[in-house]
Amino acid sequence: MSTLDEKYNKLEALNHLAEQGGGLDRIKKQHASGRMTARERIDLLLDPGTFTELDKFVVHRSHDFGADKEKILGDGMVTGYGKIDGRLVYVHAQDFTVFGGSMSRANADKVVKVMDLAMKMGAPIIGLNDSGGARIQAGVRSLAGYADIFYRNVRSSGVIPQISAILGPCAGGAVYSPALTDFILMTKENSYMFVTGPDVVKTVTHEDVTKEELGGAMTHNEKSGVAHFMADDDDQAIMMIRELMSFIPSNNMEDPPLHPSDDPIDRSDEMLQTLIPNDPNKPYDMKELIYSVIDNHNFFEIMPYYAQNIIIGFARFDGHPVGIVANQPGYLAGVLDSNSSVKAARFVRFCDAFNIPLVTFEDVPGFLPGTSQEYGGIIRHGAKLLFAFCEATVPKITIITRKAYGGAYCVMSSKHIGADVNYAFPTAEIAVMGPDGAVSILHKKLSPADKAEKVDEYREAFANPYKAAELGYVDEVIFPRDTRLKVINALEMTRNKSVTNPPRKHGNIPL
Ligand code: HXC
Repeated sequence: MSTLDEKYNKLEALNHLAEQGGGLDRIKKQHASGRMTARERIDLLLDPGTFTELDKFVVHRSHDFGADKEKILGDGMVTGYGKIDGRLVYVHAQDFTVFGGSMSRANADKVVKVMDLAMKMGAPIIGLNDSGGARIQAGVRSLAGYADIFYRNVRSSGVIPQISAILGPCAGGAVYSPALTDFILMTKENSYMFVTGPDVVKTVTHEDVTKEELGGAMTHNEKSGVAHFMADDDDQAIMMIRELMSFIPSNNMEDPPLHPSDDPIDRSDEMLQTLIPNDPNKPYDMKELIYSVIDNHNFFEIMPYYAQNIIIGFARFDGHPVGIVANQPGYLAGVLDSNSSVKAARFVRFCDAFNIPLVTFEDVPGFLPGTSQEYGGIIRHGAKLLFAFCEATVPKITIITRKAYGGAYCVMSSKHIGADVNYAFPTAEIAVMGPDGAVSILHKKLSPADKAEKVDEYREAFANPYKAAELGYVDEVIFPRDTRLKVINALEMTRNKSVTNPPRKHGNIPL
């Protein structure tokens, strides 16, 4: 019988072995590619000393292709729990040094265990992905493992926040677990996501495309809208996850975390008085307004490279997190098109699911006309944003800075679809359509000079906030310099808002 010392030494040796993953050579290779190991990532993500690892000695149960001859403790997946800023989170991280981080039945079971725990305890779950996809030797059991994870992603959606970092390859159906989560971060050059890789693409469509072009970080941040954030490297990606966590609650029953702020609530800003040009056709940068009015100018923008005609992100007012949705007149005049509608709709739904009030800054000339938008389904996509704002029961504050025309006026968190406080600047123009469009319809036959006169007339009569204010659709016309205090007042007034949608299985958002 072995002695006590021998038993303790055995545990120490097994722990050491598990921590080495696929061995020093593969760890070196991982570092040489500019990537950290799974354990290094977890150490950086969590508050020091808070990580508790689970299932460290799990091994795979495959026999085919000689798999039974190579078993590595942990089986290429590191799972467990720890804290971020003192708050409990669950983590699963693929260890690329072990079978390329590929998904076996055994390591899918490890993920399933932490996902179930996260749901039971009401804590966020964070996945650090770096994997060759389904473990070939595991066959259909690997696919079953993925499907078990997808199922839990969906059940967790809107209950606990789910965050995915793509820090290496992520191919095949494996991309669908991250896609079901709330936020995806990717690292430049080292990460990629695609349903099929460049070789299959070449065979099927005869396109020549690199991995980076097909599914690199920039592709998914700028073109596809699959990813929400792009980081230079693992380090930055992990810091971004920690910052993201600071804005969101641990589950749908909690309020987002308060971070007391020393930024005076009544800080006014004279610059805002001249930010909106008097000429309605001149662009300006809506981000200047956002940065000016939020606590400490700290804006955590989401999807900054995609559909830049709309801005979304988190900020705080008097320490309380909010979700900001804002048209960007500095990009495509801030028009609403399919991509910007979907981008904002998903964000509105996230905020609503997690009790984060919505602050909307509006300057929108309308929906983008044209065949490409109509054929692409702008009716369906615009309806998503409309649906999302209508459905959201969190406090909703809207500030119309300039244009609020047509259907876009209704969509952008108008009073009629449940906004609680609606402000407008004196520069606001709230009407069915812009002066030029209106005159060209109403006075088709007039000479250009007479048309110009009618345009002026229309602008005076309709392109202002006072018609809407007369009807109570705008609660108050405010000076731009006072925006911060006005928003803070509105948020304070709405803090105990309690509205519920009618009971139903679920709505039918126009997907
Ligand atoms: C088993 C795998 C593996 C896999 C990689 N490895 N992918 N083992 N199953 N899917 C192993 C390699 O054999 C190698 O082992 C080690 O991991 C590192 O891989 P390398 O190829 O040396 O690394 P690298 O050159 O960096 O290339 C990484 C890679 C490549 C691009 C990810 O390995 C690759 O293309 N893998 C296959 C990707 C793929 O097609 N997966 C299936 C997708 S379909 P050694 O012992 O030599 O170190 C899918 C379906 C999911 O995932 C469906 C869910 C519904």
